[in-house]
Amino acid sequence: MAQHTIILLAAAGVVYLILRNICTRIYYARLAHHHGCKPARLLPQGERVLGLSLFKEQMKASMEARLLPLMVQRHRDNGNTFKGSIMGREFITTIEPENIKAVLSTNFKDYKLGREDALGPLLGRGIFTSDGARWEHSRALLRPSFTRDQISDLDLLETHVSHLLALIPRDGATVDLQPLFFRLTIDSATHFLFGESVGSLLDTDNKVGKAFATQFNFAQSEVVKRHRLGPMRRFYRNKQFDEACEFIRAYTGGFVDKALAYNATFKSIQDLEKNPTSEKERYVFLQELAKQTIDKNTLTDEILSILMAGRDTTACLLSNTFHALARHPEVWMKLKGEVAHLDGRTPGYEELRQMKYLKYIMNESLRLYPVVAGNSRVAVRPTVLPVGGGADGRSPVLVRLGQPVSFFAYALHRRTDLFGPDADEFKPERWETLRPGWTCTPFSGGPRVCLGQQFALTEAGYTIVRIVQAVGGKLESRDEHDWAEKMGLATCSFYGVKVGFVEG
Ligand code: HEM
Ligand SMILES: *[C@@H]1O[C@H](CO)[C@@H](O)[C@H](O)[C@H]1NC(C)=O
Ligand SMILES: *[C@@H]1O[C@H](CO)[C@@H](O)[C@H](O)[C@H]1NC(C)=O
Repeated sequence: MAQHTIILLAAAGVVYLILRNICTRIYYARLAHHHGCKPARLLPQGERVLGLSLFKEQMKASMEARLLPLMVQRHRDNGNTFKGSIMGREFITTIEPENIKAVLSTNFKDYKLGREDALGPLLGRGIFTSDGARWEHSRALLRPSFTRDQISDLDLLETHVSHLLALIPRDGATVDLQPLFFRLTIDSATHFLFGESVGSLLDTDNKVGKAFATQFNFAQSEVVKRHRLGPMRRFYRNKQFDEACEFIRAYTGGFVDKALAYNATFKSIQDLEKNPTSEKERYVFLQELAKQTIDKNTLTDEILSILMAGRDTTACLLSNTFHALARHPEVWMKLKGEVAHLDGRTPGYEELRQMKYLKYIMNESLRLYPVVAGNSRVAVRPTVLPVGGGADGRSPVLVRLGQPVSFFAYALHRRTDLFGPDADEFKPERWETLRPGWTCTPFSGGPRVCLGQQFALTEAGYTIVRIVQAVGGKLESRDEHDWAEKMGLATCSFYGVKVGFVEG
């Protein structure tokens, strides 16, 4: 009897699943017809139920620092938009500017980030991990803190840049600039955000600060692993990661408490406005936020999100730029010429903005080596990409509910049909005429465009100018490798940036 019931229930279950599958198919077929969608090209794959071999292929390429060239090749072989399966999920990949615009801007509301589970343990629910109303709230909270006045504190930056300059040998000895740039940006970011730098460039005894820098680096690399694992992430546990997150959040929480206590010493908003910051008139990001909310978790989440968004990215921009400069002496000489107009003075905010060649160099660096080299979104409702379907790739493509759409800026920026036959070459001069729109958006676009763009360009530009001023001379590469990726949340150089500064 009981056996019969089980068989009956199982049969009912199977019938239900089949019916549901049929209904879904009919629903999507009608939707596709309605929008004139045609199927996107299928990536040739041995097996597309689990997509394990594709995962393995990508992991291998990733270990060998050639995931980005693999993506370029895949697009050259399969067109600008294609579909594949990985880790049991069907995804769409595209490097059509129109599609990227649809995902990030025109049909913004049809997508979510899909990275909150991977990043949540470290970042909680701040701007970098939330969607919808929660994200809007974060963005509104943070946005006012990115105005010109707040981000143009070049004195703060100079303190840390001077620590960096002290570590660059002037006798032609080889130095790897990349780790120095990562230390520079954690020092300046913690100073700006917390009001106190972890001092990783200094030879001081700030043990806790330095432990924070180490743990933050580690937690970030774990977060990337978790993200890559996709739905399989739930089977992956790492106690060391849990401990790192706990340490990082506790350390940050200490500064949050301080900022809240500081705010509480004022009787009125008027008093506060008269005394905008502690620490001698210095702008402290956290103190600004503490005027608006007392929730400790919110403040911790937001401040860590910004540290995550702003720290590695800027270090990577600097590293990739110097990697290219060391291999293009004519560009270095031209840059020196532009810097010479300052007559040895440190540049001001407006002066930096007016240095055209410096901007071409940073733009070209971000085109050829976009620090956010790949990105993705997940559809929260069935939606449509404007192009990529059919034999000619010009018909719209249907995106199913829950389907990831990924896009590799690295591959997009190397499209010869968009950037010319020399797309693979580092040529800052091309920016004299290039006005790219959605073909080159290293800071993303649409409602979630990078909040820190001006901040990053100021910090990187200032650092580049100060290095030119302080060490001058000729810049020599001390490493014969071509650029290869070192991919975390941001992408820099696998072999570091080994250079020497020699007289001349
Ligand atoms: C070269 C340096 C930088 C590059 C290339 C860059 C690029 C990007 C990109 C591509 C995004 C979009 C990510 C996504 O939506 O999936 C983004 C978002 C963001 N960036 Fe940047 N970024 C840089 C530096 C900074 C800095 C220095 C800060 C802050 C101090 C910052 C703060 C943010 C924030 C808060 C977001 C999230 C915005 C939102 O979701 O509404 N970024 N950035
Ligand atoms: C910070 O202090 C001001 C002035 O007393 C007060 O109006 C504001 O509510 C405080 N902020 C928080 C989050 O407590
Ligand atoms: C730099 O690139 C951006 C697009 O990424 C573009 O809007 C801007 O005009 C470029 N600036 C210069 C000076 O070429």
